[in-house]
Amino acid sequence: MTHTHDGISGRSQQRIEDKIELLREEQTAQAVQEIIEFDKTPADLKAAMDGFIIGQERGKKVISTAIAFHYKRLGGALKEALAENNDDISLALRNIRAPRANIMMIGPSGCGKTYTSETTSRLAGVAFVHEDMTRFSEVGYVGQDATDILIDLVFAAGGNPTLAQMGIVYLDEIDKIASEIVAYKDVSGRGVQKGLLHLVDGTDNTVQIGKERIQLSTKNVLFIAGGAFENLEGLVKQRMGRQGYQGNWKDYLLTDDLVAFGMERQLMGRFPVKVVYDRLTTRDLKDILTRSADSVLLAYTSDLKAWGIDLELTDDALGEVARRAEQEGTGARGLISVIHRVLLEDMYRLPGSHTGKFVVDGDYVKEKLG
Ligand SMILES: Nc1ncnc2c1ncn2[C@@H]1O[C@H](COP(=O)(O)OP(=O)(O)O)[C@@H](O)[C@H]1O
Ligand SMILES: [Mg+2]
Repeated sequence: MTHTHDGISGRSQQRIEDKIELLREEQTAQAVQEIIEFDKTPADLKAAMDGFIIGQERGKKVISTAIAFHYKRLGGALKEALAENNDDISLALRNIRAPRANIMMIGPSGCGKTYTSETTSRLAGVAFVHEDMTRFSEVGYVGQDATDILIDLVFAAGGNPTLAQMGIVYLDEIDKIASEIVAYKDVSGRGVQKGLLHLVDGTDNTVQIGKERIQLSTKNVLFIAGGAFENLEGLVKQRMGRQGYQGNWKDYLLTDDLVAFGMERQLMGRFPVKVVYDRLTTRDLKDILTRSADSVLLAYTSDLKAWGIDLELTDDALGEVARRAEQEGTGARGLISVIHRVLLEDMYRLPGSHTGKFVVDGDYVKEKLG
């Protein structure tokens, strides 16, 4: 009895596994095709970004260009490699020779670094994973943790290693693993940076996921690192002073300055594209409220509309919300808490008791925020 039972389940198990394998192959073939046919220009990509990310005009240009070129180049190289490797995708991916230009994003907290990376990856249609580097500095021991990133990437790619190997990894708070003069931090910071270097360099890695051992190369993964790098401005300006340069420090930022900050030169050498994001102005914050597709205000407005309520904030009210958010010093993150404080009571009270227009003006905002 038991034997027969096992036999049947074994066979159906096999059938399920075959089906999954087939699905994965189809998914892979389609993803590869999409990369090969990647045809978004930098301007296309930036135009799409503009619907979400407000301000940061210069930064968005640099990033859209870097990402569009990366995938265009990868697509071309992949097409060639497939032809040279009998259409074997994993072999082709391993044998690709396409130079890569990883991106370093610098800018104050809440100005859109993480948001840009995530949104642009989605717009480009590739797998994206976000890794918080502060988690790594605490652990210290590195080899193992670098592999964790790869596992996260495979999950982000829906379990598909091919997609994972063409994805984007965002290394958040990279400045937090800088080594400092303080002796105890020196060791761990440097260790984590060395581990990252190995990963960013694109060496072959084997990761174990469940029972499966997967060969993964990060050769074609695009890395974006981001951090606030507090006081970097001062370091750049000091150097500019010593060397007799004048002008906007953002135009003069060099790998040397990041090294002076405490980053490993070798690692920084792997991030040739440098982007400096600006602190968001009151104007930007106001525009985020009214124009970003992910605006918390627009979300609330549409929620209320479903209850028959037309929420409207006057220009004064928007300005006041933006000013208060700016005072919090957390960039656009402040908008969420401010808007929430202004509207919380009404969001509770209005549905069911009011329909039609509901206008919020500057005085009302001031009254609510105290
Ligand atoms: N320039 C921006 N345009 C639109 N929304 C933004 C912008 N910057 C930040 N945000 C909003 O604030 C949130 C936090 O920003 P985030 O990108 O995480 O900041 P950080 O620069 O610290 O990584 C985002 O999820 C997004 O909703
Ligand atoms: Mg961030």
